[in-house]
Amino acid sequence: MKITVIGAGNVGSLTAMRIAQDGLGDVLLIDIVKGLAHGKALDLEDARPLLKHNYNIRGSDDIAQLKDSDIVVVTAGLARKPGMSREELLAKNAQILKGVCLNIKELARNAIVIIVTNPLDIMTFYALKITGFKPGRLFGMGISLDTARFINLIAGELNLPVTDIEALVIGAHGEGMLPLPALAKVKGVALDEFIGDDKIGVLVSRTVARGAEIVANLGTGSAFFAPSAAIAAIVKTIVKDEKRIIGLCSYLNGEYGIKNSCIGVPCRLGKNGIEQIIQLDLSPEEKNRLTKSAQLVAAAAAQLLA
Ligand code: LAC
Repeated sequence: MKITVIGAGNVGSLTAMRIAQDGLGDVLLIDIVKGLAHGKALDLEDARPLLKHNYNIRGSDDIAQLKDSDIVVVTAGLARKPGMSREELLAKNAQILKGVCLNIKELARNAIVIIVTNPLDIMTFYALKITGFKPGRLFGMGISLDTARFINLIAGELNLPVTDIEALVIGAHGEGMLPLPALAKVKGVALDEFIGDDKIGVLVSRTVARGAEIVANLGTGSAFFAPSAAIAAIVKTIVKDEKRIIGLCSYLNGEYGIKNSCIGVPCRLGKNGIEQIIQLDLSPEEKNRLTKSAQLVAAAAAQLLA
C-alpha cells in the first residue's frame, strides 16, 4: 500500500505522522518547496524508535514520486489568513490543485484521492473534473472535521465524554455548513432533552465558526491537529476496509435531489472508496440549504473550468 501526502505544511506533515503512528502504512510526503518534505520525513523517521514503529516516511520535492500510489491525500495549497474566507483562496489554490491533479491522473490512475485543499467543496468538484476519476474514488475531507468539532462542543457543554455523543454535520465545509442538532443524541437520547434551543443554537454557530476562530487565534495559518486526525480516520477506514459511515464531500448524482455537484454528506467508505451515499431525512429548509450550497459549488467550479 503506497500512501502519498501532497503538501508538507502543518496538515500534511501531521497527517504523515498520524498515518505512520497509527500503523496504517508507509508514507511518502511531497512538497514543491525544496528540502521541506525531506527534512520533515527525516525528523518523523527519527521518532520511530521512540514510538516503536517501523513504517517508512519518505520526503521528496518531486511530484512524479507519487507514481502508483494507492491513496493520495492532497493538502497542497495556501491556508487562510485572519479574516480571509475559504473562498478567497479559490483562484490560487485551484492553480496549485490543477498541477497536482494532472500528475495524479497520469501517474496514479488507480489511486483513491482525498482532497483537503480549501475551499474544500469547490476544490473536490474541480479535481474530479480534471482527473475524470470515478466519483467514489475522489472525495473531500471537510464535514468529518466539522462533525468532530460539533461533538466536541456538545460534550464540553454537557460535561460528558465525547464518546457518549452522536452528532452529524453535512453541507459545505464553509458558510453553508449544516450541523444537524435534531439528529444529535446523547446515548440515544435527543440533545434537546439536555439543553434548550438557545444553547443548541450557540453550539451550532460555534461549530460553523470554529475554523475561523482558530485562524483568528493563530494569527497565521489554519487548524491542523483536528484536520489531520480527520484525514487519518478516513485513511484508516480505507486501509482497513472498515465500511464505516463518514461525512465526506462527495459527488452527487440525484441523491438529495442534487445532480452534478459535490457537497458534504454521510458516506459508507471502504477499500474501494465510497460505496454508498446515505440519504438523511432532512427538513425542507435543510434540503434547501444543501441544494443552494451544491449549486454554489457547481457554479464556482464551472468558472474555474471555463
Ligand atoms: C478549518 C480549515 C482547515 O476548517 O478549513 O479549520
